[in-house]
Amino acid sequence: MELQDAIRGRKSIRRFKPQTIPKETLREILELAARAPSAENTQPWEFYVLAGETLDKIRTENVEKIKNFEMPPAEMHHIMVERPKGSLFRERQVEIGKQLYGLMGIQRDDKAGRAAWVEEGFRYFEAPAAIIIVAEKSLPIEGTYLDVGAVMENICLAALDFGLHTCIENQGITYSDAVRKHASIPETKRLMAAIAIGYADWDFPANQVESLREPIDNVITWHGL
Ligand SMILES: Cc1cc2nc3c(=O)[nH]c(=O)nc-3n(C[C@H](O)[C@H](O)[C@H](O)COP(=O)(O)O)c2cc1C
Repeated sequence: MELQDAIRGRKSIRRFKPQTIPKETLREILELAARAPSAENTQPWEFYVLAGETLDKIRTENVEKIKNFEMPPAEMHHIMVERPKGSLFRERQVEIGKQLYGLMGIQRDDKAGRAAWVEEGFRYFEAPAAIIIVAEKSLPIEGTYLDVGAVMENICLAALDFGLHTCIENQGITYSDAVRKHASIPETKRLMAAIAIGYADWDFPANQVESLREPIDNVITWHGL
């Protein structure tokens, strides 16, 4: 696959076919993705690749927790990001939400429909596998996040070359206690990111989403060119 096609073709997929992914394919994707740069080649990432019964147990426990309005563990403060009210960032957040709810035919006042849609994220959008990226807690989170971001995007791009799609999702690690318990992730490691991965179900309405981007000239400042 051409690099430009991969970059343009990557999008968040929110329903996958039940088809399982060969373990070797997942290994190849991660091997490729781990060519990502990292500060002073520290390579802070580690991957927990979850499928089958383990992933199903996490899905079930996640949904129980969200149904009970359980707060995420305090250790997950790094993913609880509030965008300033009235900001452009909040506007973009609202826009993508409106698109998704619109495609799913969920009305603003349909509380049950909205709750059911939120649960989908906590079920990894029915993906056959999820990749949890973790890093040692002894590492400072700031720089580590950049390195993890690089490997995360590489995973999403590499996946496309194997006919697979992805959704990076904070929802997947919100209940870190559930993920830790079923995937046996030690307390010394911080959960940084979750990626649902699988074969896209293109008949699913939310998968028609087309996220917008700011025109590039609005975010470039040139000097000396
Ligand atoms: C750090 C991070 C966390 C995300 N968490 C979620 C999530 O919890 N649920 C979800 O549906 N999408 C999640 N996304 C996907 C974004 O909504 C998506 O990347 C954005 O809307 C742009 O759309 P695109 O990926 O289709 O280009 C996350 C993306 C990133 C980078």
